[in-house]
Amino acid sequence: MPLKSDLQHWGSVAKTLHWLVVLLILVQGALGLVMVGLPKKPFILAFYSLHKSIGMTVLILAALRLGWRAFDPRPQEPASTPHWQALGARAGHALLYLLLFAVPLSGWWFDSLAALRPLYFFGLFEIPPLATPNPGMKAFARGAHEWLFWLLVAVALGHAAMAFVHQFICKDSTLSRMLPGRRTLATSAATRMSESTSATLEKLHVERTIPAASPVAGSARRKPGA
Ligand code: HEM
Ligand code: HEM
Repeated sequence: MPLKSDLQHWGSVAKTLHWLVVLLILVQGALGLVMVGLPKKPFILAFYSLHKSIGMTVLILAALRLGWRAFDPRPQEPASTPHWQALGARAGHALLYLLLFAVPLSGWWFDSLAALRPLYFFGLFEIPPLATPNPGMKAFARGAHEWLFWLLVAVALGHAAMAFVHQFICKDSTLSRMLPGRRTLATSAATRMSESTSATLEKLHVERTIPAASPVAGSARRKPGA
């Protein structure tokens, strides 16, 4: 499967980054909600460290994704998509990109304001704080992190629902072309289609340039000696 997207298909890099980020957001959301409810005992530090490291990974992947998008062509919407729906989808995607940055950045901001422990990326190296410690702003940053997360959940649910509407109501390729390993199928279908289209065009061309009634066409059809 080609790495780059084209006007009909998503490439493997865009698909991998999309589904990897979806998976990590699910893990992060669950981990975040569970860890804040745990009793304040030393063992929870491991959960917090893991949550922060996975969160920073999402931030890096979001940056990689946006960077890759700048060089990767974006597939066009299926021709049947109404203009208002295409505009809505683009606005939704822009909001998702924004939240993919805002959620981890707000977590990092909260962590820096609280300044409880240094932030280690999977125990490998220290990540510097985003702001100077400020206990007065902590509650606001914590609330922002939580509410931005719920906004991301709401927008992502609407986005996933639209993907299912495309799949089961509009019955177009919007979802299937984003699924892993579907490119070969789509490509062979497209190839079959373009082959049959060129065969039809060729037939039309022959029929228009050599009309059946013309003497040339007639003599071409006549059996030798008849
Ligand atoms: C996509 C990335 C992230 C998601 C989806 C996410 C999600 C969450 C969620 C759902 C909570 C629980 C909120 C609550 O109910 O109070 C939480 C808490 C927390 N998150 Fe994140 N988070 C992400 C990234 C980060 C990052 C990068 C950091 C820090 C570097 C971070 C630091 C924290 C901390 C410290 C808490 C605990 C807040 C408290 O003690 O009340 N998060 N996160
Ligand atoms: C946290 C969850 C999710 C996030 C943050 C997210 C984000 C995005 C973004 C930003 C795009 C636009 C890609 C671009 O134009 O560069 C996109 C495309 C897409 N996403 Fe998601 N997504 C999520 C979950 C899902 C789910 C659960 C589904 C399916 C059930 C899905 C299906 C799709 C499809 C089909 C496209 C391609 C749309 C098109 O071709 O116009 N996404 N997603």
